[in-house]
Amino acid sequence: MIHDQHHYHTLIEEAIHQYRMPQQPAGLYDPVRYAMDCGGKRMRPILCMAMCEALGGKAQDAINQALAIEMFHNFTLLHDDVMDSADMRRGRPTVHVRWDDRTAILSGDAMLSMATELVNEGVDASTAASCRRLLYRTAMEVYEGQQYDMDFENRDDVTVDDYLNMIRLKTSVLIGCACRMGAIVAGADEDVQHQTYRFGELLGLAFQLRDDYLDTYGDPIMFGKEIGGDIVNDKKTWFLINAMAEDQSGVIKSELSLPSEPRHKIQRVKEVYDNLGLPERCGELIERYISEAKQCVARLQLVPADANFFTELAGKSSTRTQ
Ligand code: IPE
Ligand code: IPE
Ligand code: MG
Ligand code: MG
Ligand code: MG
Repeated sequence: MIHDQHHYHTLIEEAIHQYRMPQQPAGLYDPVRYAMDCGGKRMRPILCMAMCEALGGKAQDAINQALAIEMFHNFTLLHDDVMDSADMRRGRPTVHVRWDDRTAILSGDAMLSMATELVNEGVDASTAASCRRLLYRTAMEVYEGQQYDMDFENRDDVTVDDYLNMIRLKTSVLIGCACRMGAIVAGADEDVQHQTYRFGELLGLAFQLRDDYLDTYGDPIMFGKEIGGDIVNDKKTWFLINAMAEDQSGVIKSELSLPSEPRHKIQRVKEVYDNLGLPERCGELIERYISEAKQCVARLQLVPADANFFTELAGKSSTRTQ
């Protein structure tokens, strides 16, 4: 029987707080502390520990793996914010703004190394080897996804399938990895591991679609990030791809070839999205992925309270505002 989300949230916050890293050079470690200490939903470590408990292990057994995944996630964010020229995260200036680009690169590198070390800890050698392999494979896929994300900015022939594959790589595989790593630490068999991974992957697709929605429609205070960055950067989100195909007004074409001033561009593109009913249609797609994710939970045959934990968490991600 597993606990509520708050329990796992507290465990990961404690583990982050207790994690010791050197004080010097402060230019390397202060940004790591800044990134790790300043909130975040901690969804990946929560999933990792909850999955471990749901499958017969203890949350504490997977605490190092959960921390490794959260550290890896935050490393990707340091670099992502440089790549996306994003100035705000979790309601605060991003590392490359608070410090500079070269600091975000190097502190990010340090976090990746800490993650690769942490993933081996507190488990036997063969479990560690499985966790290491999974993190390595996942990391390569995240980099591939991030490269596609950047490549797509300069392409006008990106399809919805290309987009879905790109977000699967940049976002979903890490959420799948978090679930599967919890299952590995619990000693679950291959079929169960696969099902947990698939759950995370489907949840991840819904999660990134909602992130793209919030990038245009979110409240910057709640979301903690600046609104409209995806539009300004010509990110080929589900919204822009559909708008490029369906817009008859010429606004999208003109904003892609000869963009107006950023605030005006965001306003004009958003109006096209609204007129095409894209927010509602995106919501329907998110619901489809969430309901598929829930089917994966059903296949795991958990006790009802544990199954509820995962279906509720999935359900909440489809309407999240932060
Ligand atoms: C942000 O992830 C990056 C995406 C994959 C959209 P989260 O929304 O999980 O970020 P935090 O850790 O809660 O801030
Ligand atoms: C994030 O995608 C994916 C990774 C960081 C790997 P986004 O670029 O949409 O994430 P946010 O919106 O900056 O958090
Ligand atoms: Mg970004
Ligand atoms: Mg990005
Ligand atoms: Mg985003």
